[in-house]
Amino acid sequence: MSLQIPLREKANGAGKDTKAVILVGGPSRGTRFRPLSLDVPKPLFDVAGHPIIWHCLTAIAKVPSIQEVVMIGYYDESVFRDFIRESAHEFPNLPIKYLREYQALGTAGGLYHFRDAILKGRPERIFVLNSDVCCSFPLNEMAKLFDDKDAEAVILGTRVSEDAATNFGCIVSDAHSRRVLHYVEKPESRISNLINCGVYLFSVEAIFPSIKTAIKRRSERPRLLSYPSSENLENSFMADDDEDRSKQVLRLEQDVLSDLADSKQFFVYETKDFWRQIKTAGSAVPANALYLQKAHQSGSTELAKPSANIIPPVFIHPTATVDPTAKLGPNVSVGPRVVIGAGVRVKETIVLEDSEIKHDACVLYSIIGWNSRVGAWARVEGTPTPVTSHTTSIVKNGVKVQSITILGKECGVGDEVRVQNCVCLPFKELKRDVTNEVIM
Ligand code: GDD
Repeated sequence: MSLQIPLREKANGAGKDTKAVILVGGPSRGTRFRPLSLDVPKPLFDVAGHPIIWHCLTAIAKVPSIQEVVMIGYYDESVFRDFIRESAHEFPNLPIKYLREYQALGTAGGLYHFRDAILKGRPERIFVLNSDVCCSFPLNEMAKLFDDKDAEAVILGTRVSEDAATNFGCIVSDAHSRRVLHYVEKPESRISNLINCGVYLFSVEAIFPSIKTAIKRRSERPRLLSYPSSENLENSFMADDDEDRSKQVLRLEQDVLSDLADSKQFFVYETKDFWRQIKTAGSAVPANALYLQKAHQSGSTELAKPSANIIPPVFIHPTATVDPTAKLGPNVSVGPRVVIGAGVRVKETIVLEDSEIKHDACVLYSIIGWNSRVGAWARVEGTPTPVTSHTTSIVKNGVKVQSITILGKECGVGDEVRVQNCVCLPFKELKRDVTNEVIM
């Protein structure tokens, strides 16, 4: 009798059949990413020359046992059509589909709603990735821990400073066995500085029954609070008229993970590599730096060659025009059809497509929006934050401001004008110096 082993497994010699789910959210999400999310859905925003979710896909493509990628969100179907079409060329062995929730169902609600589609092909386990994190996605290492421990669930964790920890899901684990003993989502007081990175590997036999139990518990206690995301706190309470809608919102973090810690073989893989959330628009700049550095370390041929005027890592789209006397880097991404003039200095910045930076301008710690213009001798700058920081806001003159300067789409900065620590909404013309302002 011959054993029927699926082709991908046979070819790679390892791994249980697996699927990957990327949670992409929807248009009511990503509000902290404004003004950039006014023009592009956050998962498709370009960081280090590629959409944020492309970086997730690249990591997924390195796991031999993954048969399919399912993106779940509540954006319109048309939003990801081009991205999926282009990804089919780049990742030909990785079928990708988008499943649309009819409304926000929460991080566990969407998984459960689409369980039949996810379970098609009988995968034994599923990776679940939040799309709004930037990290090296050590998925193979998580799968190894899963196998070694004969686990039912593995969560990716990282250590952050004590004061940052309560902004995330916190994990208490056994240092020796790496077993998750206790999980609390954004606790009010400090319980651990090992936090949830938003990347999981679940056995299908553990996760779907656990979500089902959570649903049952919810229906038995109908007045229970529903838990929306941190970005949607106004919906936290189950108002009578919203009852049906809220009842269906189910969150992995609040409704499922702590039960998994109590009852299942749940382990944490602690990454020592980089990890950041991409929440605010400004957080795209550190994410850009981290992904560029990763590409640089892996010898990516996509990056610009180092020279006297190119301090690596720098990404320049092949259609961009950069004057040879302009000095770029480190950590700069230049998008399609951008024009950068003579004597320009750009550092720690994302320059989005069709924009122009005129001669002798200086752009530091900033995002230059699509089709924007920075005048000659102008200075557009943010403020550097510590590399370990998990926030992109700083206090200046007693006021909390964004550390990154952001120009929305089609903004103009006049010649010799200085813009410092500002967020500028689309279509604004800046003709005088501005500091620490949100320009509406
Ligand atoms: N499809 C879908 N439907 N996706 C959703 C929904 C939903 O209803 N709600 C959130 N998401 C997606 C978001 O787009 C994001 O990628 C991810 O799920 C988590 O988003 P939030 O719910 O806003 O959670 P958070 O970012 O505040 O916290 C989560 O991530 C942290 C790490 O970045 C939690 O998992 C924390 O514990 C964790 O530390």
